[in-house]
Amino acid sequence: MNILSIETSCDETAISIVHVSDNTDRPVFQILGNHVASQIALHAQYGGVFPALAKREHVKAITPLFIQVLKDANMHKIGVNDTLTESKKNDIEILLTREKEMHHDIIESIYALEKPQIDAIAITTGPGLEPALWVGVNFAKTLSMLWNIPLIPVNHMEGHVMSVVAQTSGDTFEVAPITFPALSLLVSGGHTELVIIRDWMVYEKIGQTKDDAVGEAFDKVARIIGLPYPGGPAISALAKEAREKNLTHEIEFPRPMLHSGTYDFSYSGLKTAVLYKTKEMGALTDEHKKIIAREFEEAAIEVLVKKTLKAIDQYSIQTVMVGGGVANNTYLQSELRKSIQQYNPEILVYFPRTDFSTDNALMIGVAGYYQFLKNKNGAQLDTVKACGTISL
Ligand code: KG4
Ligand code: ZN
Repeated sequence: MNILSIETSCDETAISIVHVSDNTDRPVFQILGNHVASQIALHAQYGGVFPALAKREHVKAITPLFIQVLKDANMHKIGVNDTLTESKKNDIEILLTREKEMHHDIIESIYALEKPQIDAIAITTGPGLEPALWVGVNFAKTLSMLWNIPLIPVNHMEGHVMSVVAQTSGDTFEVAPITFPALSLLVSGGHTELVIIRDWMVYEKIGQTKDDAVGEAFDKVARIIGLPYPGGPAISALAKEAREKNLTHEIEFPRPMLHSGTYDFSYSGLKTAVLYKTKEMGALTDEHKKIIAREFEEAAIEVLVKKTLKAIDQYSIQTVMVGGGVANNTYLQSELRKSIQQYNPEILVYFPRTDFSTDNALMIGVAGYYQFLKNKNGAQLDTVKACGTISL
């Protein structure tokens, strides 16, 4: 089967088409088309993402991006769509009343196409920025109506959980072996969560952040010391240099909630501690910045590693799956691998490959496939809604 997936929860418009062959218990995914239009450069000027601006950019990007993905997948064919009746056109017009620009682009570029060989449409419905999510949701609903294709709502975090199933590079991958119970550490700009996975699509959240997410803390600390958005990669690069050159200072930032006895996290106090320290230090030299980056990164990551290890022990975890943008952090990767190796080398540890780690549509396609197996008819269209705060 072929799955189209669409992701617009934050600052990336992402669309992909995958082919899934499922003759064994480890399905094989083949990427037929996959693109991400990033708004990062735009938001970088303001140091963060503004929802209204993000929405506008998604509206502009989504139709051309879809056409590009169709072309790559060899599914872009001008032809007749017999099912496009006047009443369907009316329904689509009503659906897109508040999306005039998108409606126009769809009429121009999509009405004249033959129905592509797509068996299901997976769409991120949340969590994320609601105005941004709605762009993808309404676009996906339109395609679903236009071509009578089942619509599969996908939780963005579930996408990040499933992002690790691709453990090989290239356009074709077999789902990596996963032994349950598995544990997902979700670390992104909006989330810091520990989730037990008892079986495919069966989740139990055991902990989450009480305030800022860890990626958000990286971004805010970057801003405090004058680094560009997104701050994670920039902080991580400076911290690496500080470690290599053995730069240290009498700074030790707090490890928030390390001994709380729960699996919850808190990163806002750590960020504030960095803010006070930098004020105290006055004008920051490049060396100061490296040291702050290092000390902050080590504090932030130590809490993640220790809590993950505690959960592995308490829940007899067999597989650890790390998802979200912060999974790119090489210090987190090495520290977590090292401690799990020491604890029990049999435990499987997966981080996503780079193109699956920050927001992308491939992970939504993978999660969408497993959701589709549970409900092959898809969701009733009028029940599919964007929800900024939906939980796993
Ligand atoms: O998953 P993601 O792309 O978007 C959200 O759903 O939030 O995650 C983006 C977050 C940003 O906060 C970014 O600073 C962080 O991931 N990030 C990193 C690294 N690469 C990206 N944080 C730490 N180290 C990195 N190497
Ligand atoms: Zn994300």
